[in-house]
Formats: sequence, C-alpha cells, structure tokens
Amino acid sequence: MCGIIGYIGNDEKKSILLNGLKELEYRGYDSSGISVLSEGELSTFKSVGKLINLERKCEGFHSSGFGLGIGHTRWATHGKPTEVNAHPHFGKFSNVVHNGIIENYHSIKESLQQQGRSFISQTDTEVIVHLFESHLENLKNPFEAFKHTISELKGAYAILLITQKSPDTIYYAKNGSPLIIGRGKDSKDAEAIYFASSDAPLIGLASEVCYLEDGTLGAIKAGGFHTLPNPKLLSGDKLSAQKDGFTFFMEKEIYEQHKVLLETMMGRVSEDNFSLEELSELDLSSVDSITLCACGTSYHAAIAGSYLIERIARLKVKVEIASEFRYRNPILQANELFVVISQSGETADTLEALKLAKRNGLKTLGICNVDNSSIVRESDFSLLTRAGIEKGVASTKAFATQVMVLWILANFIAQKCGILSKAAMKQEIKTMLEAVRATEVDKKAHEHIKRLSRRYLHGHGFFFIGRDIFYPLALEGALKLKEISYLHAEGYPSGEMKHGPIALADLGLFCVALMPQNLLYDKIKSNVEELSARDAMICALSAEYYEGCDDWIAIPKYSHYMVEFFAMMVVLQIFALEVAVRLGNDVDMPRNLAKSVTVE
Ligand code: F6R
Repeated sequence: MCGIIGYIGNDEKKSILLNGLKELEYRGYDSSGISVLSEGELSTFKSVGKLINLERKCEGFHSSGFGLGIGHTRWATHGKPTEVNAHPHFGKFSNVVHNGIIENYHSIKESLQQQGRSFISQTDTEVIVHLFESHLENLKNPFEAFKHTISELKGAYAILLITQKSPDTIYYAKNGSPLIIGRGKDSKDAEAIYFASSDAPLIGLASEVCYLEDGTLGAIKAGGFHTLPNPKLLSGDKLSAQKDGFTFFMEKEIYEQHKVLLETMMGRVSEDNFSLEELSELDLSSVDSITLCACGTSYHAAIAGSYLIERIARLKVKVEIASEFRYRNPILQANELFVVISQSGETADTLEALKLAKRNGLKTLGICNVDNSSIVRESDFSLLTRAGIEKGVASTKAFATQVMVLWILANFIAQKCGILSKAAMKQEIKTMLEAVRATEVDKKAHEHIKRLSRRYLHGHGFFFIGRDIFYPLALEGALKLKEISYLHAEGYPSGEMKHGPIALADLGLFCVALMPQNLLYDKIKSNVEELSARDAMICALSAEYYEGCDDWIAIPKYSHYMVEFFAMMVVLQIFALEVAVRLGNDVDMPRNLAKSVTVE
C-alpha cells in the first residue's frame, strides 16, 4: 500500500527520499513523488510506474545544504494512477503526502471550491493542502492552521505537510495509518529527523524511533535537540532485508524458512516443554473458545490453526475473514479469546476487527510479524512470528511462521489444560523439529519443479485439493499461484469436488493434489481418481508414487502429517515461483497487489 518518507537535515534530500522510497517499494505502488524545500524553494517531482522513472525525472536536481523533504509511493484508491494524482499534492506554497482515506473529502472539496480554490487531481488527499492554505489565510499561524485542518478530517491518515511559510518545519498527523518518527545524525554529525510509514527505510539512518499513536499531530522544526516521546531503539540489520544472492526476494524468503522457523521456536519450545512468556498474564482457564480472524494468506494460516488447536488442545475454534466479520454485527461471547493474525500488523480490516472485539470486552491476542505495529500495540497480548522482514509481496515465510506459532499455541494450551502427557509433548516437539528440517530446500527437488513448471503454462485453470489441514494449504497454494502467475487457481477440500467443481474437469484442467501419507490418504486418493477418470491433468504431491498421476512431485517419507504439511508448503511456493518466472512476471511485485493493505 502507499508509503511515506520525510527528512529534515543537511544531507542530499533527494537521495534520502529516493532511497527511502526504494525500501518501501515492496509494499506495492503505481506512482511516486518527492518534494524538497531548501533555501525557500519548493521543488516537486512525480512520476507513474517504477521508481526508476522518478529517479530519471529528478536526475539534474540537487539540494545540498539544510532543508527538508517528503516523499510518497502511491497505490491508487481515489483516482487513477496518473502523475497528477501522485503525491505530493500541492497548493500555492505547501505540499502534502498522505496514506489512508479521507472519508469526508467530498464535502470539504465542495466548500473549498466555493471559496474559489481549484483542484487538479481526483484524489481525496488534495483537500488537505487546500484546507491548510485556506486556514492559514485566516489564522496566519501554520501550526494553528494545520491543527484546524486535521480536526476537520474524517477517516484514516498518516500525513506530512511542508510549507514555504515555515521552511524549517514538517507538520505531521497520524490516525489509523502507521507513521514513525526517527532521530539520527547526518553526515555533519548534526541531528537529522526522519519520518516513515514503516521501519524499513529508517534502518541504518535513525538510531531511535517513535511509533506514533492514533490521534497524534505535531510539528518538528529543524535544529535543536529533539526528544522523541516513548523512543525505541532501531536495529541496524539491513542485510537481512537484502536478496542474499537470490534473484527474487520471494525465492530468498522460501529458502530461509527453516532458519526463521527455528527463530520462531526459540525460547518457546524446549526438549519437553512449551512456554509462551508473552501469555503469562493470560488466564486460559477462563477461555472456552477461540476466534481466529485474518485476511488472505494469514486467513489460510488461521484455518490451519483451527485444525491444530481443536485437535491438540480440544478447544472450539471459529475462523473469520476480517473484512466480513467487522460488518456483520457478530455475536461475541465473553469467554472467547479473539486472535488476529497478520504479517504486517497494519491490515486495516484485521485491525478494525481487533478493535471491534476489544470494544466488546473480549481478550485479544495478535499474532504478528512486525513488532510495534498497530495490531501488536492494540492487542492485549501478542506473539511475534519472527520471520524477519518479508519483502516479496506474495507471503511465504510469514505463512510458515504463523502456522508454527499456532501449532505452538495449540500445544501450549493443551499443556496448560493438562491434556498433553509428557511423552506426547516430547513426541510433538520432535515432530516440530522434523517439520522445520523439511522446509530446507533441496536444490535437486527445486530443479525438478522448475523443469516441470513449463508443462503448466496453458490450460483453463488449476484446482489445488487437500483434506483436513491440507485444505488450507491447498487454498494457500492456489493463492500463491494466482498472485504471481495471474493464472486462475482455486483451492478446494477434495471431498467437495463432486458437489460441483468436478464439472470443470477435462484435459485443460490442472489438478495439484496434496496426498499426505499420514492423513486420510485413501480418502484423497479416491477423490483424485474421480478427477483423473475425467481426464484432468493430475500433479500429485506425495511420498509414494501414485499411479493415477500425470506428474509426480515426490516429498520424502515422513511419519507425521505436519512434517508432510511443511514439506508440501515449500513445494507449492516453488511451483508458483517457477511458473511465474517462466511467464516473465515480476515475482516480487505482482500487478495490482500491495504488501500491506492499510485501506479496507
Ligand atoms: C498473500 C498475502 C496477502 C496477505 C493479506 C493480509 O501472499 O500476502 O493475502 O496475507 O493481505 O496481510 P497481513 O498478513 O499483513 O495482515
């Protein structure tokens, strides 16, 4: 989704803004822009498409010496992705960047137009800068004008505004969209101030950061020493955000899953015990059911979690899609633990579902990959998934770690409730470690999938089928493929085939069948046979050769279905990757998608 960057200091503003935007690229965008205010001059550059277009636009521009700047990557919501609609938006002497949605922009725009102010874009954002200039005309004080402006906005926003009337100040406001202020040193060892909508652009620049709370607004002036409220140290781990020699971030992230899964387990799983310190204050005896709520891939992890928690902890679990949950006036029960799952921690629907549950007095738990994200801050309890920065828009390692956290949680609850014997616990932990090892990518297996992928570039679509916990894995396999290959793919519980979908079975239908040896093998086998009998092209994922298949992707023999689950997860991710690469698609930044969906 949209990204924001801001800077006050002595270094070259253009490069700091452009580098910052590069770090935000992975969130997805369709246009970008920067504004620099230096020596009283306000210079703005915007462009559609990739950042390289913006870089070219401002090639000849330099801004050494003291100044400030704001930048933005836009993912279109109101108005097409055009240069005019790209941020920063400007009035006569001020510029603004904004993430989120201004819900009442129509009425503001109308009243400003009646005052004779003209608009050039189709965006909601443009009203902010005109409203500010209108207030400034009357109030004469930029900060007062900014405060009045913000008080009139309804909706979600993270805003940075600069104006020639106060050329040493950045005005900022935050409500519902993330905004961080960072403090560091510039190359002259003087204080430098940074703004960003996520950590990534601040790594290596800011030594401490402040994650702004909803309802915050302020102004930061250049010069002088600034004390950030509630400052946090920012780690300088930039390397982990790089590609490590892989062509795509997605590939790198698939390959590092075994490492991050171990990180996820660290301190939580020992030889014969599960411990979740983060939940030490949570009274599990008062919990009689769990609701898992999320979007997209995280929703698939939630379904997988529901199988695990019900099976292992014998606790009733309900799974909700966040965007549906929040508008259907759900019935919530006092003894329900409300768990939201999110990689980014900023997904608008998931965040609002969480707030709704809190308003209804439920205990809440956030399972999240980003510390200090809105979801982590809003939840009563949180469990971090520890996947590290995930840059590929198509989620891989985040999904793996979400399932792992849910698996640990299931065992933790079972242990607390006394329904897990020591022996069973030990066995479960052994299985977990084996599952982690199963995610280590075998290069030969990868090569085999790569060769095979060329047979799957045509046809009229894919069914990914599985039973039990392999059903959410089938959903995830189909989502991965459609996100990056743009081929039509659906995930189904295999027992559902004959209730309608089998009508599509013919020579042009590819069916990827998840056939674990350790869970309902015979049942899924007969479902696959039905498809095979109708000429569908079958690609079987299994440890044993299945004679009814057209292609076989062999996974090693394991003795537990969860190990097979993680092994097949990697196969599905690589399969999607290789099909998409053959089709010449941008794997890390697929069309129409954004990494962090901060609008509903
Ligand atoms: C798919 C994908 C999305 C996200 C969804 C929720 O690869 O990444 O479906 O899972 O947008 O995002 P988070 O997990 O950040 O709440």
